[in-house]
Amino acid sequence: MVVYIIIMSMELLYLEKIDSTNKYAKENLSSLADMTVVYTSEQTSGRGRLNRKWSYLGGNNIYASIVLKPSEEIKEVYSNLTQYLSLVLTEVFEEYGVDSRIKWPNDVRVNGKKISGILAESAFVGGKLLGLILGFGVNLNCQKKDIENIDQPATSLNLEVGAEINREEFLKKVLDKFCLRYNKFIEDGFLLIREDYKKRAEFLNRPVTVRVFDKEICGIAEDITDNGALKIIDDSDNEQVLLIGDIL
Ligand code: BTN
Repeated sequence: MVVYIIIMSMELLYLEKIDSTNKYAKENLSSLADMTVVYTSEQTSGRGRLNRKWSYLGGNNIYASIVLKPSEEIKEVYSNLTQYLSLVLTEVFEEYGVDSRIKWPNDVRVNGKKISGILAESAFVGGKLLGLILGFGVNLNCQKKDIENIDQPATSLNLEVGAEINREEFLKKVLDKFCLRYNKFIEDGFLLIREDYKKRAEFLNRPVTVRVFDKEICGIAEDITDNGALKIIDDSDNEQVLLIGDIL
């Protein structure tokens, strides 16, 4: 079943069951309009960052991908869109009374337990950017026993607030907030949200180990730069500015 709904300037495409909303969006990118949101109740082969998988934890969670077509040429700010979305998610969690933090670059966690993950993908045709796909998964209504079987500490919004969460209501809040500053974010870049992002950053001024490809860098997470990179003072007292990586 395919259902189309329009929210603000976004078009929602609901698919009952799909292997991956990101994969679907990528494969159908040329026919999907800018600001289309593909979402499903059953994602059978969810993709995660760094070639990991995103587990399916039941139908009443968020498995969604936003299709964006801001321009044909790539701009630096596009790589910060996952950070923009992570901030939006923390703001929405706050509306439910839940204090969440961002583990650089874009994992959202509550008390050290992951509640949301974001995966950005892109597609090019003849050197031109066809579009970006901003996929996000949010644990909204999970059972404790399912959450405990994941390979890392995780939680779900219903477990944090002690009540079932309305998925459509939550999704609408996220998309409304995403739209609110999207155009300005594309114009101004990460600087627009830097201070807000830093307030929500979980790890600043703390010792961290960051994996960058097959290398591990240990040090103190000192700052987030104007373009969203993580600045670390490593154990040899050298400053390292990391554009990609994974805090372990
Ligand atoms: C991560 O934390 O590793 C990122 C996980 C991203 C999961 C979402 S769920 C919807 C969208 N479709 C996918 O296949 N992956 C993303």
